[in-house]
Amino acid sequence: MAARASLDDPGIYELDAEGMGELIAGFPGQVREAAELAASIRLPGYRELPRGVAVVGMGGSAIAADLAAGLPRQVPLLTVRGYALPPFVDQSYLVIASSHSGDTEETLAAFAEAGQRGCARVAITTGGRLAEQAGDAGLPLVTYSYAGPPRAALGLSLLLLLGTLERAGLRPAVDLAPVLAAVEEVASRCRPESPSGSNPAKQLAGELPGRIPITYGAQHLAAVARRWKGQFNENAKSFSAWEELPEADHNAVVGYEHPRRAPVSLILLESQEYHPRVALRLAATAELAAERGHPVHRGRAQGRGPLTEMLSLVHLGDWVSYYLALLNGVDPTPIPAIERLKAALADQG
Ligand code: PA5
Repeated sequence: MAARASLDDPGIYELDAEGMGELIAGFPGQVREAAELAASIRLPGYRELPRGVAVVGMGGSAIAADLAAGLPRQVPLLTVRGYALPPFVDQSYLVIASSHSGDTEETLAAFAEAGQRGCARVAITTGGRLAEQAGDAGLPLVTYSYAGPPRAALGLSLLLLLGTLERAGLRPAVDLAPVLAAVEEVASRCRPESPSGSNPAKQLAGELPGRIPITYGAQHLAAVARRWKGQFNENAKSFSAWEELPEADHNAVVGYEHPRRAPVSLILLESQEYHPRVALRLAATAELAAERGHPVHRGRAQGRGPLTEMLSLVHLGDWVSYYLALLNGVDPTPIPAIERLKAALADQG
């Protein structure tokens, strides 16, 4: 069997031809810049609070909404991934479109439908047709520039979404200093120059080649588990899945038996914020999976508080997926399968 390439060998980074490592390393700075940009968001004075918020978006632009839904806010927030809004979204809702390119057809369709239903609307994007349509309709438009793919712009899409919710009176402003300190700590431990012996991202990635990572999270970290799954897919070009506790204890655990020797590895995201019974469940679930012969790994958050835990674990997961890409022998950046599907659909009109 060929020896596995080492993540401490500078040569392996030649695979990263488009510089995903630099984009990931830029995450703390991106969060800081995004917070400054968010402070300049201006919204019309809405007469009353909306009954709920629907964020329409897909993929790397939708995950910001899932994360925001795990944080304290005044009204329910749902993520709409698709062409149509749920029937209950009416003029009492605020609908926010989140699309990096501004050209994602599902997002454009759902946002247009929100206009027909008389919802208040805001667009967050780098441009595209979404910016044009929001401009033509005189809607609040939160724009940003970023030279990288949507999934690497999560600091921007999330902080701008949180800023929009703050400006709409739907959540309090947060002190980002402890969040940034935790993210910077993860950045310094996980960067490529940090050797495998003291680099938790390299260590975890080293356990995953040839396996299907299934990431488990609960409460505010369920969305982070979903983010890890997406990053394993897009960066490492790997099958991956995610599960939410306690729900997984009511179905997923039964499936640990077949197929025999399934090449899965569980990654459990830990939190100091979990309900005590959820923490017990995490330990019991790990024990069950290990008894069934499945490797179990942990993702440990840095710092305290939901947003700090979220972003420190998002950053850890980004690095793990990056290193797994390199161990899989692939360039983390290109996503030809997504582009092919978008082109195929565009050809259909
Ligand atoms: O990561 C990606 O590139 C995708 O998941 C995109 O985010 C998704 O296709 C939606 O595109 P956009 O973010 O431009 O709306």
